[in-house]
Amino acid sequence: MPRNAEQRQELERRVAAIQGWYHAIDLGDGVVTPGPFCMAEYVREYELPDDMSGMRALDVGCGNGFFALDLEKRGADEVVAVDVPSWTAKDWSPAYARDWVATRSAAERDAIDQRSLRAAFELAVGAAGQGRVRREEVSIYDLDPDRHGTFDLVLCASMLMHVRDPVLALHRMRAVCRDDGVLVISISSPPNLGDADGEPLARFVGSARQCNFWQMSPACLRDMLQCCGFAPIGEGRRFVLADRPVEAVQAALRDAPGPVDAAAVPGSGEFRDPHYMCHARAVSSA
Ligand SMILES: C[S@@+](CC[C@H](N)C(=O)[O-])C[C@H]1O[C@@H](n2cnc3c(N)ncnc32)[C@H](O)[C@@H]1O
Repeated sequence: MPRNAEQRQELERRVAAIQGWYHAIDLGDGVVTPGPFCMAEYVREYELPDDMSGMRALDVGCGNGFFALDLEKRGADEVVAVDVPSWTAKDWSPAYARDWVATRSAAERDAIDQRSLRAAFELAVGAAGQGRVRREEVSIYDLDPDRHGTFDLVLCASMLMHVRDPVLALHRMRAVCRDDGVLVISISSPPNLGDADGEPLARFVGSARQCNFWQMSPACLRDMLQCCGFAPIGEGRRFVLADRPVEAVQAALRDAPGPVDAAAVPGSGEFRDPHYMCHARAVSSA
């Protein structure tokens, strides 16, 4: 049922009260969360099943919840969305963890956790969800079939570069992926990295002040997937992940809810990482 003017204003007020949105999410009735990353522009690249009824899905590194909501819209019976239990639990570089993260007060850390990890997701899923998305606070390293069960589809979008140990991360995702399940994963994979000769190359892109670690060639991801018990079944095409000016994204989603035409929305130019993304699909192998 459409919201009345008062309900819409209240939703807009709650959205505006949260700082640091990541995803632009269409909450309906013209309300769009002010995040610079408009995944409606990229979701088609993931080739997710149109009809996910009967499926249990896992969104790893869910952020504000765009993909969890998308999996639910496709009819998944249950979507479990996981992200780190706290901002400090990210794989920060040792220098950053020591000099900045560890020197924040407990109150500052709580505020970041509440705002950027929990409140935005809860608001988005509360406003646009259908009741089948559940969020859990757990690092990718701690995914556990005894605790989380197993899944027909595991989605790991734009997050593998944030872990220092991608092999362990893939291994943990394999542990929660059913034997006939599918992993859909995107990685940072610039075309100049080992493409020509099919070398399984990883490039360290960490710096002292972040939690970005690895870019990989498609062959590197393929070999890591095999090493972790996945049988790669194909590569998606590369796409360039760019942030967008928030107002332009909001206008595009308001005018035409659904997939967004990237050409119609200019990039902001602020996100400068060479984030050419390659996406791969893998089925579990025994
Ligand atoms: C670049 S965002 C991607 C968000 C979303 N998956 C997407 O594609 O738009 C990376 C997300 O991974 C989460 N993340 C980082 N390290 C993680 C870890 N060790 N375990 C689980 N999530 C993690 C971050 O908190 C963040 O929400």
